[in-house]
Amino acid sequence: MTPPEMDSQGQRETIRFDDRVAIVTGAGAGLGRVYALELAKRGARVVVNDLGGAQDGTGSGTTASDSVVAEIKDLGGEAVSSYDSVATPEGGKNIVDTAIKTFGRVDILINNAGILRDKSLLKMEPELWKAVLEVHLNGTYNVTRPALANMRENAYGRIVFTTSAAGLYGNFGQTNYSAAKMGVIGFMNSAKLEAMKYNIKINTVAPVAATRMTENIMSSERLEMAKPEFVAPLVLYLCSEHLEDTGMIFNAGMGCFSRAAVLTGAVVKIGKKGEIPTPEVVAANMDRIKSLDGSVEFTNLRAAMASIDEAAGAASQ
Ligand code: NAI
Repeated sequence: MTPPEMDSQGQRETIRFDDRVAIVTGAGAGLGRVYALELAKRGARVVVNDLGGAQDGTGSGTTASDSVVAEIKDLGGEAVSSYDSVATPEGGKNIVDTAIKTFGRVDILINNAGILRDKSLLKMEPELWKAVLEVHLNGTYNVTRPALANMRENAYGRIVFTTSAAGLYGNFGQTNYSAAKMGVIGFMNSAKLEAMKYNIKINTVAPVAATRMTENIMSSERLEMAKPEFVAPLVLYLCSEHLEDTGMIFNAGMGCFSRAAVLTGAVVKIGKKGEIPTPEVVAANMDRIKSLDGSVEFTNLRAAMASIDEAAGAASQ
């Protein structure tokens, strides 16, 4: 498939995925389908993974994956279906094995599969909690681990995790989903450190898009404005050789993009070295402790600890 040199915005198409192999989980619909199509249009060979179940994760089927594979083939691209669930280690391994057996390797992994089981916390029975953690958080682990092993052999990899504004900022009725979606951020923060020496980069997208997941909560105007196609350009960049960054979180939707990050305020040292402050002294200093003036972003635990050691007057580790 040879796309035109120039795109509709008059720019040369420099981001290509020729000879690259991509896995997109949950690619039978919504955002994942668009990621798979756009990657294929730019030359990637794609594993279209989807369990094919309902929005709450119940049921399964082959139609969702197969229809996206057919769309890609109609465009002249290469793709293969995978119906495994990301929610088990065996499923994750099968998904990666499908890529290796069919196309020989894995270069790109987009962990996108997702379900919802919304309930307020008091009604959040353990099975609702577990089902959502299993797909979003365990699912990201189940596929990323075997994919990383293959990427390490090739000393190349681009991995995208999927979080949500519900996790980053909070949303009523979504404690399970928010916990899972922030869980993947903690996962990324440590995994990026282990992956970087193999030229493997891991970043996270927080999408806003009109899909099955949001069709009942978005206004009709927003549904029209928030096509998944508006999220895909950022995700494709995060999958590209051009990518420089790792360990970052990006909001994307409706043509709007921003970076989200964990910031830490300037250290407030109370009392002399070795002196334990009272709760009253802490209370008296809360305005300073809460302040984000002079805040910084740490890229690993050691850097965060070093700033505390310095303020505390401790010898650094
Ligand atoms: P969607 O419901 O259209 O697509 C999710 C796909 O994942 C479905 O095709 C489903 O069959 C598949 N899936 C579910 N469980 C699976 C499993 N165990 N194994 C393999 N596939 C499975 O939803 P949408 O909106 O496209 O969501 C994609 C991702 O984006 C999800 O992780 C979601 O949490 C996240 N997200 C979406 C937002 C939005 O505005 N649409 C907002 C924030 C996050």
